[in-house]
Amino acid sequence: MTANPLSFDILLHSSTGNTRLVTRYAAEALRRLGHKATLLDIQRGGRVHHSCDALIVAAPTMYFRPTYAIEEAVANLPPIREPKPAFLLATCGGMPGAHFPILAELLFHKGYVVFGAHFVVCESNYPMHRAWVEPIGPLLRLGRPVARWLNTKGNAARALTASIFLGEADPTVKDRDALENFLDDAISITRAPDFDNPPTPRSLNPRTIGTVAMGQTFQRRFASEMGPRFVESRCTGCGLCVRLCPATCLTQSEPKAVPTRQSGCTGCQSCFNHCPEGAVATKGVPAGWGQYRGPSQRMKDVFAVKAEKR
Ligand SMILES: Cc1cc2nc3c(=O)[nH]c(=O)nc-3n(C[C@H](O)[C@H](O)[C@H](O)COP(=O)(O)O)c2cc1C
Repeated sequence: MTANPLSFDILLHSSTGNTRLVTRYAAEALRRLGHKATLLDIQRGGRVHHSCDALIVAAPTMYFRPTYAIEEAVANLPPIREPKPAFLLATCGGMPGAHFPILAELLFHKGYVVFGAHFVVCESNYPMHRAWVEPIGPLLRLGRPVARWLNTKGNAARALTASIFLGEADPTVKDRDALENFLDDAISITRAPDFDNPPTPRSLNPRTIGTVAMGQTFQRRFASEMGPRFVESRCTGCGLCVRLCPATCLTQSEPKAVPTRQSGCTGCQSCFNHCPEGAVATKGVPAGWGQYRGPSQRMKDVFAVKAEKR
């Protein structure tokens, strides 16, 4: 047992499961080291506890920034009087853009100081992307050895792999080790945070000016234009998309009715990716094309929660 166990609250948003898988692993890793880790899934109404020693905010990157759902959850956190350390965890296709700076600033206004940030490159669940790359997948088969090599060459190369060779961007054991190192750092910083002199975490620095600028300028108004259009002939009115919409902007006039989109859509494509009938189309993407069905078996194996003790 750890002599001085710490308590981490982990605020989580995940649309299709990549971030949930990685974050559950992170929580389990903290517990294995003797600390308390409480997962607070924003879609299940999780509330941050005042008594935690540090906060971790975990979410996917969408449109080069954090999801609007996690931004809203952070913006609604009650302010704290005494500063507390915070850490950011993201999953993305390799281009986090302004994800970390935006959350760090929001958290700062609530009284938290972000001491570290880390992202795990995962397969992209962006329909626009998948719909147009998936069909040429077989043609790209010859390039797979190059993709596998690129996958070992750091995150910039990973972004390229993730963009072109969808399945090859899965995280590996190396990514799991990098996550564990990040958690080790988070533990030591939380034990003795120097609020007067916080380090500038490397990953908070702009990675490429272009993607950071895109994330800073991308507005919810534009994202909502990527919202769903329901194909009536395919929709069975099962209501899954309504239940899973993080912006709660889909409604059904009656059970089994085709959902209607109200204001507030953030273009997260959760409805598109989860529809069991492939009945959702979005701007530039026909219904059912390029749906993301969640983490691959390979990724589940890497982040299996019952991982062996270190
Ligand atoms: C609407 C949308 C926009 C996205 N934008 C980005 C992006 O700007 N940069 C990036 O690297 N990945 C982007 N992605 C990919 C996701 O960040 C990535 O697949 C993530 O692991 C999904 O996590 P989840 O399964 O927890 O929802 C985007 C995905 C969606 C659906």
